[in-house]
Amino acid sequence: EKGTYPFYMLKEIDEQPTVMRRLVQEYQGDNHQVNIDPALVAEFAQSDRIYIVACGTSNNAGWSAKTLIEKLTNIPVEVHLSSEFAYDMPLLSAKPFFIYLSQSGETADSRQVLVTTNKLGHPALTITNVAGSTLSREAKHTLLLYAGPEIAVASTKAYTGQIAVMSILAKAVGEYKQIQAAKEFDVFHELSIVASAMDSLINDKQHIKDLADEFLATTRNAFYIGRSNDYYVSMEAALKLKEISYVQAEGFAAGELKHGTIALIEEGTPVMAIITEEVTGSHTRGNIKEVESRGAKTLVIVTEKLAKPTDQIVLPTVHPLLSSLVSVVPTQLLAYNATIQRGYDVDKPRNLAKSVTVE
Ligand code: F6R
Repeated sequence: EKGTYPFYMLKEIDEQPTVMRRLVQEYQGDNHQVNIDPALVAEFAQSDRIYIVACGTSNNAGWSAKTLIEKLTNIPVEVHLSSEFAYDMPLLSAKPFFIYLSQSGETADSRQVLVTTNKLGHPALTITNVAGSTLSREAKHTLLLYAGPEIAVASTKAYTGQIAVMSILAKAVGEYKQIQAAKEFDVFHELSIVASAMDSLINDKQHIKDLADEFLATTRNAFYIGRSNDYYVSMEAALKLKEISYVQAEGFAAGELKHGTIALIEEGTPVMAIITEEVTGSHTRGNIKEVESRGAKTLVIVTEKLAKPTDQIVLPTVHPLLSSLVSVVPTQLLAYNATIQRGYDVDKPRNLAKSVTVE
């Protein structure tokens, strides 16, 4: 039930801190240990390469979890689109381990790949919001998102839920492998901090609505830019904006702008930059200057420590490996408000279905 909310999407954005806290409860075992099937953890730890296979927002969640899995487990991660993997399968490593990310657990493109990798005998894990779904039944292992039903077509709490579950899993695998970075990463504590950071952004709704009105109410196109994890969130931010508000939006690696995309910048083009990392922040700042000098109107979403007085959206500090969980929230609210402003049905965008059961 959406209760007093005008749209499910807003309710589901608001539920994200609760989902984070629920995941802590569900996956935290006795004496602070991760409570995940040891057979799953061992199989993951013994693999030499992780293949994440997913579509749309779930694929973007895969990208956002890549670095944290690699840092905590020391196992390389590849992220693939299901619909591409199915027909152009990459050369696999000697001991691959597959992760299928799917809110619904019913996505046909992903299922097709799972059927193939099952036939090849490779271990697979489905991370899904729906217990008993097709992808869950057909994969050897399942981890649940515990996000509650996601009704809005535009996925929000499943994206953050998927990244959070992968951070918990990576912690367990890294500890199993005695990786120092994993031992030092207090995942449940860090996810609680994330939940509070999300709360404070969600409480700042009016501010983000004002920014959506200012930047996105009438524009034909818009760009998100960032580097590394901020680039991955940019892709998700752009998908969210385009699928419900119909603004032509793209997420770009900030460093790639000068290799082509900058040609699209005109007087007044909105460019939203995401900055959560110190190492890449100054470079992205340079790119902001470049687009501004070509007439772009820029909106900066930046982590507290790196904020300048003119930056519009300031993100509370969280563990760097979990920055996506927080930086994505204002972009969800920007997409939501742009859509309201433009007068479209937020929950039921044209041409889209909640679960895509055809290839
Ligand atoms: C975007 C969106 C879609 C889904 C995609 C995969 O907001 O919802 O891009 O993420 O269709 O769906 P699942 O995760 O159910 O496999």
